Amino acid sequence: PVIYAVTPTYARPVQKAELTRLSQTLMHVSNLHWIVIEDAVKKSSLVENLLARTNLNHTHLFVQTPVPYRRKGSVNYSITNNCDFFITNIIMISMFFNLFSFFFQPRGVEQRNAALRWLRKNKTMNDKGVVYFADDDNSYSLQVFDEMRYTKEVSVWPVGLVGGLMVEKPILNLTTGKVVGWNSAWRPDRPFPIDMAGFAISLQHILKKSKAYFAYNVSGGFQESHILQQLTVRENLEPKADNCTQVLVWHTRTEGPRLTEENKLIARGIHSDVGLEV
Ligand code: UGA
Ligand code: MN
Repeated sequence: PVIYAVTPTYARPVQKAELTRLSQTLMHVSNLHWIVIEDAVKKSSLVENLLARTNLNHTHLFVQTPVPYRRKGSVNYSITNNCDFFITNIIMISMFFNLFSFFFQPRGVEQRNAALRWLRKNKTMNDKGVVYFADDDNSYSLQVFDEMRYTKEVSVWPVGLVGGLMVEKPILNLTTGKVVGWNSAWRPDRPFPIDMAGFAISLQHILKKSKAYFAYNVSGGFQESHILQQLTVRENLEPKADNCTQVLVWHTRTEGPRLTEENKLIARGIHSDVGLEV
């Protein structure tokens, strides 16, 4: 089976670094097709050139998150003033904004749906494959791809550094080998309290359940539950990674770079990266 790794991505200072790191992981995975979907009005040359350099089988799509759900860009990126009052306000606004974003602006919804549409349009039941939603900032071991490759419907495994825990994982009944619960601490009432990086779906199942999509009218942290509820029930999950005893993927998040000096330059109409792509 072909692994279809679906990666939404958006322009920000660390984008090229993230995509370089991810692409170099994916280069070690055999029989893989990378579907990269830019959150943008058109393809960027940065992503286009990066994909061309990788030699990976790939599909490059783009779709912009619609206005009410679009994030307004990082508030911290352009702090140039040292006034404490100003900074405090920015921090307060930024905290409120982060909270607001979390509840009302799920990330990657439109982009993952574009990939699902592409798969349903371009693949048939004769194609053998598995679909994995691989965000551009996580850290992936090569083994996680071996684990997911033979998924019948939906497979699951632990994810490190997510949900406020060192690891969020399915709990198994070792006699039956089935998932009977979860160890989650954050919103354990979620129908599938699991991160996007912790499951994969067979291509045939994606084609069969042709109406399953991500959605905006879902609270923060419930995207995974929303799609999985349309695809499966807990009893049918296929546990991987040695009965969910191994952590093979980490929900890492990259710290935004401090660009205080760059912002001072920009205020004077100068950029450090003129004529070169960072
Ligand atoms: C967590 C989950 O790990 C995500 O899979 C889930 O989409 C997200 O919560 C959510 O529920 O909204 P988190 O680390 O907070 O993820 O999200 P990001 O890594 O910032 O974004 C997820 C993916 O969407 C990334 O590949 C990112 O590049 C992309 N993204 C993010 C966009 O395409 N546009 C944006 O405006 C923001
Ligand atoms: Mn992330």
